[in-house]
Amino acid sequence: MGMFGSGGAEHHNSVRHVATYKIPLISVHSPNMPLKRTRNIAFGIPVDVISYIQKKPNQNLLICGTTGQGKSKLMRLMLEMMPNPKVVFSYKENDEYLQIEGNFIAAEKSLPNPFQNPEAFTDAFAVTFNIQSEGIQASTAISLVNTLARESISWHEFVDNAKKHAAKAKDINIRSATTYLLEKIKSLTYNSQQIDLDLDNTNILDMSYLNDDAKTFYSELFLRQIYKKIKQRSKDSDKVIVCVDEAHRLSRNVESKRQSIINEMSREIRAFGMLWTATQNLSDIPDQLRNQFATQFAFSTTSENDLRAMSQIDRDLALCTSELRNHEFVDAKHEKVHATIAIFKANIGSLKERDLEELRPAEAGQHEPVALKEQAERPTATHQAAMLAIYSNPSASKKQLADYLKKKGWITSETTIYGNKSRLGIFDSLVSLGLARKLGSGYELSGKAIAQLGERELVEKAKNSGSELHRQLIRKTIKRLHDDNTYIKIPDDPDAPDLIAYPMAKGSKKYLWDDSKARAYEIQTTADKENVLANRKRNLGLGLPTTWVCYEESLLEEIRKLTNNEDEYLLIRLDK
Ligand SMILES: Nc1ncnc2c1ncn2[C@@H]1O[C@H](COP(=O)(O)OP(=O)(O)OP(=O)(O)O)[C@@H](O)[C@H]1O
Ligand SMILES: [Mg+2]
Repeated sequence: MGMFGSGGAEHHNSVRHVATYKIPLISVHSPNMPLKRTRNIAFGIPVDVISYIQKKPNQNLLICGTTGQGKSKLMRLMLEMMPNPKVVFSYKENDEYLQIEGNFIAAEKSLPNPFQNPEAFTDAFAVTFNIQSEGIQASTAISLVNTLARESISWHEFVDNAKKHAAKAKDINIRSATTYLLEKIKSLTYNSQQIDLDLDNTNILDMSYLNDDAKTFYSELFLRQIYKKIKQRSKDSDKVIVCVDEAHRLSRNVESKRQSIINEMSREIRAFGMLWTATQNLSDIPDQLRNQFATQFAFSTTSENDLRAMSQIDRDLALCTSELRNHEFVDAKHEKVHATIAIFKANIGSLKERDLEELRPAEAGQHEPVALKEQAERPTATHQAAMLAIYSNPSASKKQLADYLKKKGWITSETTIYGNKSRLGIFDSLVSLGLARKLGSGYELSGKAIAQLGERELVEKAKNSGSELHRQLIRKTIKRLHDDNTYIKIPDDPDAPDLIAYPMAKGSKKYLWDDSKARAYEIQTTADKENVLANRKRNLGLGLPTTWVCYEESLLEEIRKLTNNEDEYLLIRLDK
């Protein structure tokens, strides 16, 4: 019982000034006596939790307990007691950690650039989506992520490259891996500025505005940057405390090659810092990781897995833990756990609350992932060709559709059309993407596909589609462009071209869109000089030459004169 002494007696230099903070020891019991009878609050002696931790073989700390038990309060109390520099990862809105004085960092505006380090990108992806490296599907996805991360410097490029790989791929696994990846990365595509953390001070990283996947993905990237920087600090600088609440986010995948840096940190951070984490269940943390924490504070639990883990350490420890009262905890790694089990409770009376509203004024809309929708939803040229074939030939058989593709010159390879053992044919590929359904001996398009290429549907989507005359002209222009399998984008922005068209590439690359030949289409029902010249200038600024579309020859001629006959001019006649 006397083993804690009075904690104030022994102090390392680094904690002297916090000696006034104590965690009172509430009771101590000997496992030879029945628990209930020995529980005695009157035994309480204050324990200096800092020197308690500093006497341990390492200064890593794990706090486990179901929600509401007081993990965050305890963690904050301990963080505030420590004079060391810190990086604290906080995940919940208005969480306890935001009360700590220090550099407040709104994470969603300060994320690491994932394209700086392809290996980190790949590992973080595997941890976030819990992809074990075993299994053909998983290893295809992982090596594809790795390739794409190497090839790309932005999310947009990542998406474009993914599509190129899919279009080239003979292997159906690669195609399905691409579809999977494109879906997954939607939650990770934030636009933000990388910042440099000041590791001589306290940093509170508020991750709460990120979605769940992004919380994990970017925590992993942050941790790697921080760990790298910590290791570069001079040997005699203060140890940095890295605190990660919700550690279960990163503790998956430990069996896999692609795992969180938290595993390495737990083993090797000792010389430069300490790893402090919290999670709900002790059993969220696999044994090999858990063993790296020389202090493991556990609140009351009824989880069978946790109690089993406890009873493997000591039979009475499990019993004791199951009987803890609110906010009480034990140390599963107590050096004398077999002789006596100490029960602790934090005195949180000294913690001050501050007004968090000032810390983070609400900024609506700032924290959503950037939609990569346009790019992500752009079908490949081959997919669109197949969709257009079905669209223009309702109730045609597969053979007739194939003939149409060949006649058009859009797809000429039998393998691309019909597939082979390792690869889906183009129409079945549409089915697998939810763009078409089998119907009789042929196919019909799904609503998703029709929304992408129906003339009426495309025009309806445009917010500013103007007069009925204007809309009719746009529909006819789309039809004309689809006749050559052109990809059409109708911008939402009223101050943008009416249409942007991307032609199919020529020759052996015709499965790609030729972005370098993209053009703006302007539907003109008048020839207002100022308007024409302004649009032209804007389009050139976007890198797009203009095609002028009119329904009357005289109008078109007027525009031709205004633009010195330097553009393209298209006459589209109206229905009689
Ligand atoms: N030692 C304590 N004494 C008295 N009240 C406490 C103590 N610790 C925590 N509480 C109270 O319990 C509540 C929950 O605490 P806290 O937010 O730290 O829980 P948590 O375990 O982190 O929960 P979650 O898993 O939901 O994050 C708080 O209202 C807090 O004031
Ligand atoms: Mg908490």
